[in-house]
Amino acid sequence: MSVAHGIRTLGVLGSGQMGLGIAYVAALRARVPVLLHDRSEVQIKKGLAFMDKLLEKDVSKGKIKAEEAKEARDRVTVVAPEKGLEGFRDADMVVEAVSENIALKQSIFKDLSAKLPLETILASNTSSISITKIAASTIPEGHTASSELGQKSAARVVGLHFFNPVPVMKLVELISALQTSQETVDRAKAFAIACGKECTTSQDVPGFVANALLMPYLNEAIMWLEKGVATKEDIDKTMKLGMNHPMGPLQLADFIGLDTCLAIQQTLYQGTGDSKYRPSVLLERMVDAQWLGKKSGKGFYDYE
Ligand code: 3HC
Repeated sequence: MSVAHGIRTLGVLGSGQMGLGIAYVAALRARVPVLLHDRSEVQIKKGLAFMDKLLEKDVSKGKIKAEEAKEARDRVTVVAPEKGLEGFRDADMVVEAVSENIALKQSIFKDLSAKLPLETILASNTSSISITKIAASTIPEGHTASSELGQKSAARVVGLHFFNPVPVMKLVELISALQTSQETVDRAKAFAIACGKECTTSQDVPGFVANALLMPYLNEAIMWLEKGVATKEDIDKTMKLGMNHPMGPLQLADFIGLDTCLAIQQTLYQGTGDSKYRPSVLLERMVDAQWLGKKSGKGFYDYE
């Protein structure tokens, strides 16, 4: 039996490439009003301009009608930075899509939990961080994990892992914390399906299924480059043409963001203690140099 997601309004926290993509599929495909919040006004403007471009492209390619594009755009409302997380009070679910930093995510979830009703689902788009740790940060001051409020607060936290570019990639990985209720998982899944996605489920292990498999591959490619086994172009060409991958591993690492790749690899390495996940020195140095890939204009390749 299919479950109704019951999301009448969605909150999206973070208007970078992931948050913006989630807002886009929610407004266009699930057709729900979206409250979009980011502490940077510049980032919001950049995100909305990109959304306009995507909608225009879909109209010009005949994928959607002009009025559908307008309706989708009108469903997106910006929550002004000064309003803070209070601006999500009308949301039935908030998806957090900020950078891959556990302290930042825990402080955001603590705040979300304090400011929003207990019925609001709190989802994280984290690529690798423990949903159980994030859920534990929602327990209100003065309560314990076993108190009624502590349990209810953590039970509405779930991992909803979208892939980049969100409008194109068909998958959402669902991750339950130890504390997550079945109702939260079912509703989050129903919502991802309404956004046009297919879902898989992973246990709450470092990197979940997707990044625990992808990141060692990308890291190995970076180590191959570091050792001089082949040029970056040949490493990428080998995997594109030899394996029919849409992008080679170095191009894909640039596309994801080298800081994000490093943060995920550090979570994998620290979370498992397994040396096979140790990030390559070259990746660390590139992040030190602020060569973050496509988003910063320079990574393994140069971008405009
Ligand atoms: N946002 C939205 N749409 C985009 C986009 C973006 N950033 N980049 C490309 N697209 C759209 C294009 O508009 C085009 O749409 P159309 O079919 O309506 O015209 C379509 O994607 C194809 O784009 P192009 O023709 O320009 O280029 P390609 O055929 O080379 O496809 C690609 C681009 C879809 C990005 C393809 O190269 C690809 O699939 N790459 C692999 C992406 C991937 O592996 N993503 C997962 C990363 S891991 C992850 O996200 C997890 C995280 O936790 C790290």
